[in-house]
Amino acid sequence: MMSKKMLDALNNHLNEEVYSSYLYLSMAAYFEDKNLKGFAGWFRIQSQEEYMHGMKFYGFINQTGGKVNLKAIAAPKTNWKSIMEVFEETLAHEKHITALIDKLVGQAMQEKDYATNNFLQWFVNEQVEEVANVEEIINKLEMIGDNKGGLYMLDREL
Ligand code: FEO
Repeated sequence: MMSKKMLDALNNHLNEEVYSSYLYLSMAAYFEDKNLKGFAGWFRIQSQEEYMHGMKFYGFINQTGGKVNLKAIAAPKTNWKSIMEVFEETLAHEKHITALIDKLVGQAMQEKDYATNNFLQWFVNEQVEEVANVEEIINKLEMIGDNKGGLYMLDREL
């Protein structure tokens, strides 16, 4: 049975993942509005993935005999100054999530909670991949600059 402290931390993190889903859906809506369907589709998929991440926490909490306690989801931002700003904020957000996962791992190790530590390892790997994917898109956006043709190509690629 996991500690109350660990259970509370996992419930808080479930909220962070669902908030991530909501944030990326808001980013998708921003791109839909600009008729950039490729970018919008990319963020819609990210949004679905984040919801699934939240559901992994939901499943694990239940499996280990804890109770899921859902909290309010904060309203995400709805407008950005540029495409680059959207991706810079996505990168910052993913780094924030990575820091939270690392903190959860630290807590699980401190409590010798091996089951939770093992559950969290999937997220440790996932975060490496997610940060790398966003960095790759930022690199491409830097190369493209103000080139509309390049932007069109990247939208199609995504
Ligand atoms: Fe589930 Fe992108 O962190």
